[in-house]
Amino acid sequence: MDFEFTEEHLNVQQAARDFAQTELLPGVIERDNEQKFPAEQIKKLGELGFMGIMVDPKYGGSGMDTISYVLAMEEISKIDASASVVVSVNNSLVCWGLETYGTEEQKQKYLVPMASGQVHGAFLLSEPEAGSDATSQRTTASDEGDHYLLNGTKNWITNGNSATYYLVIAQTDVEKGHKGINAFIVEKNWAGVTVGKKEDKMGIRGSDTHSIMFQDVKVPKENRIGEDGFGFKFAMKVLAGGRIGIAAQALGIASGAYELALKYSKERKAFGKEIMHHQAIQFKLADMATQIEAARLLVLKAAALKDAGKEYALMSSMAKVFASETAMWVTTEAVQVHGGYGYVKEYHVERLMRDAKITQIYEGTSEVNRIVISREILR
Ligand code: CAA
Repeated sequence: MDFEFTEEHLNVQQAARDFAQTELLPGVIERDNEQKFPAEQIKKLGELGFMGIMVDPKYGGSGMDTISYVLAMEEISKIDASASVVVSVNNSLVCWGLETYGTEEQKQKYLVPMASGQVHGAFLLSEPEAGSDATSQRTTASDEGDHYLLNGTKNWITNGNSATYYLVIAQTDVEKGHKGINAFIVEKNWAGVTVGKKEDKMGIRGSDTHSIMFQDVKVPKENRIGEDGFGFKFAMKVLAGGRIGIAAQALGIASGAYELALKYSKERKAFGKEIMHHQAIQFKLADMATQIEAARLLVLKAAALKDAGKEYALMSSMAKVFASETAMWVTTEAVQVHGGYGYVKEYHVERLMRDAKITQIYEGTSEVNRIVISREILR
């Protein structure tokens, strides 16, 4: 077992850290207050190769491994989880899904612009009545010969307005249950696509989360991904990888809050000494550091399994459950270490605490991921 990173890993980690400090930190509080999408920053991340980290360079990507991806995700998430969710959805749900299961034509037309960061994508699975219960899709795509007609509503769509291309999961044959579900590439500017209201969220307020409506949208047959009926498995496969990205996001939120608490504890004085000299604070810091390290090992193990071509769905769900619960707990403790200052925006930890909550909800709630874990271990 080798716990050392390669030089490439360290370089990508440093590049993401530098970018987060110089480009994301200034303005992060304002973007959160104003619910402003980090458009300029996402464009620059694309130019630096962070929007298609794992994609083959022949399709516009950076050709790096999943370890590099999680290292970058952690660093970006320490500072701005609203930006990192855009990076995560584009990399692990959209680009990975297209590169792994798309046709050559689909890759040339859609993957290349998204992996190279010219535009980005969104993944449309959730519906008003189908979040955790993902097989209960109400959005339909009826087969009309050379095209499908898409109708329905999707909810809680990350990148809903900023994305150019959507990967849409829809029911094509209700009788067949999950085997009657397909995945389609849909262009946002096609007739019949409407971007609905923007959600006013507790956290990750800089990311744009919308409902999306489809009314008789003509989707060419060549835009279906994989064989007829592959859509549900496609969704499960991309989510297994996506959960590694969200686990890395949660890890970053936790380690960002921990670093702030550590720094504050060395500066703030109470009862005649810096608060780091009080055991009450030392024990909090010790527990935070330990939880974070355990989460990091799970995230890296899931990424290493994926890179080795081994089964990783169990480990990605374990990493996501553990890292997201770590993020919620560590950010709450980081606010506590900061006392009253932790409760105001200027000190960043209150934002990280709000941002942490979504990591327990999206890409499978903690409960859904426990279903995945328990099914695997009881198999
Ligand atoms: N790989 C391949 N196939 C898989 C699979 C995987 N990882 N997981 C399940 N499948 C297959 C099963 O083998 C089964 O196929 P067969 O019938 O041929 O054996 C089929 O899929 C159905 O599986 P289940 O019977 O397990 O399905 P279920 O209805 O019990 O649901 C679930 C399982 C885990 C709860 C699933 O519905 C799920 O993951 N739900 C949560 C969905 C989710 O994560 N949503 C997030 C939205 S996207 C998002 O959040 C993005 C964002 O904005 C950041």
